[in-house]
Amino acid sequence: MNTDDDTNALLSRCSRFLFVFIATTALKTNATLTRTKVVPSSRPVGGVSCKAFLKSNNETIMEKKRGDWQKARNTPAGKETNAPLGVFVLEYDASNEDVEKTRNWKPIIKIAVSGAAGMISNHLLFKIASGEVFGPDQPVALRLLGSERSQVALEGVAMELEDCLFPLLREVDIGIDARKVFEDADWALLIGAKPRGPGMERGDLLEMNGGIFAEQGKALNDVAKKTCKVMVVGNPCNTNALICMANAPNLDKRNFHALTRLDENRAKCQLALKAGVFYETVSNVTIWGNHSTTQVPDFVNAKIGGERCTDVIDDQGWLENDFTPAIQTRGGLLIKKWGRSSAASTAVSIADAIKALVTPTKEGDWFSTAVITDGNPYGIQEGLVFSMPCRSNGDGSYEIVEGLKINDWLRERIKKSEEELAGERSCVAHLMGVSGGACPILEDTLLPGEM
Ligand code: LMR
Repeated sequence: MNTDDDTNALLSRCSRFLFVFIATTALKTNATLTRTKVVPSSRPVGGVSCKAFLKSNNETIMEKKRGDWQKARNTPAGKETNAPLGVFVLEYDASNEDVEKTRNWKPIIKIAVSGAAGMISNHLLFKIASGEVFGPDQPVALRLLGSERSQVALEGVAMELEDCLFPLLREVDIGIDARKVFEDADWALLIGAKPRGPGMERGDLLEMNGGIFAEQGKALNDVAKKTCKVMVVGNPCNTNALICMANAPNLDKRNFHALTRLDENRAKCQLALKAGVFYETVSNVTIWGNHSTTQVPDFVNAKIGGERCTDVIDDQGWLENDFTPAIQTRGGLLIKKWGRSSAASTAVSIADAIKALVTPTKEGDWFSTAVITDGNPYGIQEGLVFSMPCRSNGDGSYEIVEGLKINDWLRERIKKSEEELAGERSCVAHLMGVSGGACPILEDTLLPGEM
C-alpha cells in the first residue's frame, strides 16, 4: 500500500502551500457571495466563497482575483498561461441550487488525504466525493496533500474531481505543506509512503517512512481537529500509525487506525469461493496483528451463512495451509501479476473501513481494524497498533469485541505478529520520543507485498 507519490520530498519542503484549488465552496440558503475561504463546518449552508492561490515564479503565494482567473481561462489555447484551463471555479453562485436537496445535509467535513496523486487515492477520492463513503447527506471538503514532484499531477486530480460535478464535493484544496493541508481536518487518510527500494533494509524503510509519519503526526497535533480520525494506509501501516499517534498527543489514541480491512476482504473472498457461497454470507472475519505476512486471518471465529466457518469448510488442512498463507501473501502475488501494489482494492477497503466506523455494525458481526492495544481484552501487550475485531455504533468510534475463542493455533500465530510489532516499535522508538530502542527484526516479514 505504497504510492509512488514522493511524500518524502514534502518533508524537506513543507513550508510552502503551493496552490489551493477550491471547486465549489458554494453553499446556499441565500445567494449572498462572500469572500471568505473557510466555510464554517457547523453550518451546512450559507454564502458562497472562493479564492485561488497560485505559486508565483519567486514561490511566494499570490492571490488571484476572479477577473484574473477569468482572463486566464479566456487565454486562447496554445498561449502560455498560469492557470490550467477548467480547473478553477472562483466564486460560485449557488442561488439556483436546489434548496430542497441540500436542506437536510450535515455540516461539511474536511477530509485530508496524503499521497493524493497516487494510484490508491485516484480510486478513493472519487468514491468519497460521490458520497459513497460518508453518505448521501454528507458534504465534504477534500484537502489533498502531495509533494513537489506530484504537484502538477495533483492539479490533474483536482481537474478530474471538478469535472465529475459531484454535488457533495464542496471544496478541494491541494498543497504540499501538511500543516496547511491538515488544518481543521475531521479525517486524515494517510496513504502516501515510500516503497522499499532495491538494497534497502527493512529498518531503513521503517526509518524513512517513520520520519514522514512523525512529521505528519506533529502537523495533525498542531492543526487538525482534536477529534480528527486518522487512517494510516502507507506501509508499514501499523507502526506508522503508532509513530503518528506518538507525535500527536493532542489527539485521542483511539482515533488512530491502520488499515487491515483489505486483508479482511481478501479473507472473506477466499472463504466464500471455497464454500461456494456469495461474499455477503461470510461474516465475523478477524485479521489479527500486523498488516504483514505474520497477520492471522481468523477462520476459527469466522462464520458462513451464520454457521461456524470450520463446519461449512470442513477442511482444516486447507484452512491452515492454503487459506492462511494465501491471505498473508496476497499483496505480494498481486504485485507479481500487476507489477505494482494493489490500488483499487485498497481504495475499496479504505472506503469499507471508514463506512464501518460511520455506520452501526450489524448485530452480532464485527470488522477488523488495527487500533491501540491499551486495555485490550486479549492480553496483547499495550502500546501497539494491532488488528482486532471491533464494532462501532456509527459515530466514528469503536469498541473491541470481547470473547472470541483463541485456540492454540491462533494464539501461537497472534503471538508471532505481536512480537513482530514489538520489534518494529523498538526500531522506531526514537521517532516516538523514546530513547534506547534496538532493531531486532530478523525475519523478512514486513510487508505482504514483499514476499
Ligand atoms: C497489499 O497488501 O496489497 C499491500 O500492502 C502490499 C504492499 O506492500 O504495498
